[in-house]
Amino acid sequence: MILETIATGGCRSYLVGCPDSCAAVLIDPELSRIDRYLGLAARNSLRIRFLIDTHTHADHYSATREMARQLEVPVVMHRHSPAPFVDLRLEDDELLAVGRLRMQAMYTPGHTRDSICVKVGDCVFTGDTLLSGATGRTDLPTGDPDALYDSLFDGILRLDPAYKVYPAHDHQGNGPTTLGRELAVNPRLQHRERAAFVENMRNLSLTMPAHLTEALRTNMSGGKTVDQLLAEAAAKVPFMSLAELKNRVEAGDGELAVLDVRERDAYEQGHIPGARLLPRGQLELRVNKELPDPTRHVLTYCALGLISTLAAATLREMGFRRAVALDGGMAGWRDAGYPVRTGTEP
Ligand SMILES: [Fe+2]
Repeated sequence: MILETIATGGCRSYLVGCPDSCAAVLIDPELSRIDRYLGLAARNSLRIRFLIDTHTHADHYSATREMARQLEVPVVMHRHSPAPFVDLRLEDDELLAVGRLRMQAMYTPGHTRDSICVKVGDCVFTGDTLLSGATGRTDLPTGDPDALYDSLFDGILRLDPAYKVYPAHDHQGNGPTTLGRELAVNPRLQHRERAAFVENMRNLSLTMPAHLTEALRTNMSGGKTVDQLLAEAAAKVPFMSLAELKNRVEAGDGELAVLDVRERDAYEQGHIPGARLLPRGQLELRVNKELPDPTRHVLTYCALGLISTLAAATLREMGFRRAVALDGGMAGWRDAGYPVRTGTEP
C-alpha cells in the first residue's frame, strides 16, 4: 500500500494507493492544497478514484467538491452527510474497492453526526473521532459526547490495538500512533466510564475554530469560499505593478483609464491622481456610460488589491479584454510614498 501524509497546518490529508492497480483514494483533502495532491498522485503513478471526507469539517475548507469536478470521480461520505454533492453515501461496514485494497467504513458519530473512520490493511483513518493524544471535540454542530463514547469504546477501540491511527488533525505533530498507545496514554481515553467521559468532553471549553461559519457554509453546500472566488478571478486577470502605474501616471498616460472601485468617502480621502471613482457595487450598471470603448486599457484598484481583482475579472467577462488590476492597492501606493490626490476631482 502506498501512503502519503500531507500536512496543512494542523490538518492531515492522506493519499492511499494500491501499487498493483495504481488506483488511489484521497482522504480529507484541503482546498488550498489541490496542486500538491495531484502532484503527489502523479509522482507515485497513482490515479485518484475516490475523494473521502471523514465528516463535515468545521475548521477548514474541503477540496472534495472542487476535485470531484476536476477529476470526475465521486465524493464519498457517510449517509448522514448534509452535503448535496456527495455521490457515494456509505453505511457502517461498507467497503470501497480501490484496486486490490478494500477500504472499510466504520460509522463513528460523536464529533459530528456524519463521522466515519476508514480501515485498510493495518491502518485506520480516524478523521476527528480519535486524534493522537486527544479526541475530536463534541461541542460543534451535531457533536454528541455520548455518541462519541460509543464510537470509541464500543467501536474503534475494540479493534486490534496494533492498528496504526491516522487522524485528520495532528496539532502537536506527533505523527502516526496506534490504538493501543492511545488507549494507554491519551488523556481523554482515561475516562473509561461513560459519565466521566461525557462530563470531561462537556467541560473542555475550547475556543471556536476560525472561519467556522464559512467552513460549514461551503462544506455543507458545495459553495465557494471567498479565497476561491479571489483565486478564480486572479487566474483570469493580468496585474500591473505599483511602480509601473506610477510611471504611467507621471508620464500622463491618457490611454489608460484608472478606476478607483472603492466607496466615495475613501476616494475623497485620497486617490491615485487621474483615477475616476466607480465603486465596485455600481460597476456593472455604470460601466456602459463610464467606459463606452471596450478596447480601452483599463486598470482597477481598491484598498488592498482584492476587490479590484474581482472588478477586473468582471470587466473582462463583460468584454473589456484589456482590463487589468493593480498588484497591491491604495495601501501599497501610500506605503511607497507615491502622490495622492484628495477631494472629488480625478
Ligand atoms: Fe472535524
